[in-house]
Amino acid sequence: MKKRAVITGVHAWVPEYVLDNKELETMVDTNDEWITSRTGIKERRILKGENQGTSVIGTEAVKGLLEKTNTNPEDIDLIICATVTPDMLFPATANIVADNVGAKNSYSFDISAACSGFLYALTIASKFIETGAHKKVIVIGADKMSSIVNYQDRTTCIIFGDGGGAVLLEPTEESLGIMDSLLHTDGSGADFLHMRAGGSRKPATLETVKNREHYVFQEGSMVFKFAVTKMAEVSAQIMKKNHLEAKDVAWLVPHQANKRIIDATANRMGIGPEKVMLNIEKYGNTTAGTLPLCLWDYESRLKKGDNLILAAFGGGFTWGAVYLKWGYDPKP
Ligand code: UT7
Repeated sequence: MKKRAVITGVHAWVPEYVLDNKELETMVDTNDEWITSRTGIKERRILKGENQGTSVIGTEAVKGLLEKTNTNPEDIDLIICATVTPDMLFPATANIVADNVGAKNSYSFDISAACSGFLYALTIASKFIETGAHKKVIVIGADKMSSIVNYQDRTTCIIFGDGGGAVLLEPTEESLGIMDSLLHTDGSGADFLHMRAGGSRKPATLETVKNREHYVFQEGSMVFKFAVTKMAEVSAQIMKKNHLEAKDVAWLVPHQANKRIIDATANRMGIGPEKVMLNIEKYGNTTAGTLPLCLWDYESRLKKGDNLILAAFGGGFTWGAVYLKWGYDPKP
């Protein structure tokens, strides 16, 4: 029997501070009606305070996950953190989380695939389990987008928020867990969505700070066009490849970037809104955080054996879909 990697627990964490559309109206020339109708977002969470990086989100999510799944941190073999807002360029945020939670026997690393980061990390992690190399792997998707968002740019600041979550993957010989994944990259998309300075090409200088080059740059409508096409396409492809019809899919778990992109994806898959996980109105776009946040929000409604299609599109460009069978019934 083929060994697969199955999700045996999920937990997430968001900061307390709520930045709603009303408050944004006082910061930039925008309004609740525009934001709601164009994106579906009502509010997002912001991590405030000195020295509070993405590792805070990851640590809280993993602590909760270990507790929920009754897992000893010393039994964790590997922690992968998907993020584009690491605490520092190095070391990896995953290392900081591992240290904070006492995962003494684990090695760890970050991966950078923007909004598709959680799908990339989930796929990588599943391979380590399928080969028998590891027994317990944690995948984190988390971002503190407020650290790279320009709150004077109304085209980006209304979208993003802070938050994230984590899942535990373990081996199973049942027909459950990660069944398939399709991942893509198109590096030419970098022109339309990036952070210009702060890397090796353009290290920080007084000039780069003055020019606001340490913030997300996005050509929104161009990214929208790609996102709407690619996320729908890859979701339909993974269904076809695995002989799934709309009736076989229990849930679409879409990246929460824009409700219009989510609706287009569901339409292409032939799936009704009752099967689409949606929490964009509460958290906005938390980049690598959206998918685990959805799984956490809907955990109590998921049943063992449910077919889930996870799909994302983001900076890079990166995009992809993962088909998985949920591993457990709701716990009391
Ligand atoms: O998660 C990673 C990948 N990212 C995405 O998937 C995001 C994809 N893009 C989007 O979601 C959308 O493009 C946005 C939400 C960013 C923008 O929505 P849009 O419908 O594409 O708007 P637009 O950029 O075409 O702008 C339409 C109008 C413009 O005004 P004019 O030129 O028609 O007069 C903008 O200046 O809306 C204006 N506008 C705003 N008005 C009020 C742009 N932002 C705002 C705003 N409030 N916040």
